[in-house]
Amino acid sequence: MKLDEFAAKIRESDEIVVFTGAGISTESGIPDFRSPGGIWTRYRPVTFQEYMTSEVARIEAWKRRLDGWEQYRAAKPNVGHYFIQALSLKEKLIGLITQNVDGLHSMAGLADDKIVELHGSNRKILCMSCTKEFAPEPIINSLVGDFASPKCDSCGGILKSATVSFGQAMPEQAMRIAQGWTEQAKVFIVMGSSLQVQPAASFPVVAKRNGALLAIINREEGPLDGLADFVHNGSIGEFCGKFGEMIADG
Ligand code: APR
Repeated sequence: MKLDEFAAKIRESDEIVVFTGAGISTESGIPDFRSPGGIWTRYRPVTFQEYMTSEVARIEAWKRRLDGWEQYRAAKPNVGHYFIQALSLKEKLIGLITQNVDGLHSMAGLADDKIVELHGSNRKILCMSCTKEFAPEPIINSLVGDFASPKCDSCGGILKSATVSFGQAMPEQAMRIAQGWTEQAKVFIVMGSSLQVQPAASFPVVAKRNGALLAIINREEGPLDGLADFVHNGSIGEFCGKFGEMIADG
């Protein structure tokens, strides 16, 4: 499918689902995972089991959080996030399914009932025993010198970012809503994901199987390009800048 044909489809559709990965936040200064220099090219993931059973693993995980803290704090939504928000303002968006935990879609103004965060959010910290919630800033600022991993001030339980680690159960309600939106979608747009991680990467396949038009916008080629009706390999920011104008009167 050519770009102007895809633009026509977007102009005429009001049943669009967008699915994003870390690639939509790199132009906001947050590194992705699998590009050169990405997080998993520098660290091995700490699994949920390791985090919950080893103080050494917890300290390692908090050190990484400290490492990326400035980039993350300074990050602002970019053209890609605002493009999706614009679809919602035009009542064209059923919902946004994101693998990202950075909260930038919400910061761009997208309503909470239009966002599903499949892998949770690092804008909250949870006690893994009594589920008390904490804001990240005071906890991060308490991690100085040779720190022990932070504990809950109510029950002494282990504190953890409200993100889904490898080996941790997926959030049931988020998965259920994402499944419903995916089955409803007439147009399903993937932006900035290598589509390597299950079960998240199954949603584009389900959408296509349900007859949706599948579009993939990603800097690199990916495993579902052959299945997609429209593929653009390049920068999301650049694409959304141009494409936003093409569909402006949609
Ligand atoms: N424009 C377009 N594409 C980009 C850009 C950009 N500015 N920056 C990066 N990309 C692409 C990369 O080429 C890559 O294919 O985005 C993709 C990001 O892939 P990953 O780093 O694997 O991120 P993601 O797909 O979100 O990873 C899924 O893996 O580790 C888990 O929980 C983590 O949610 C994450 C999941």
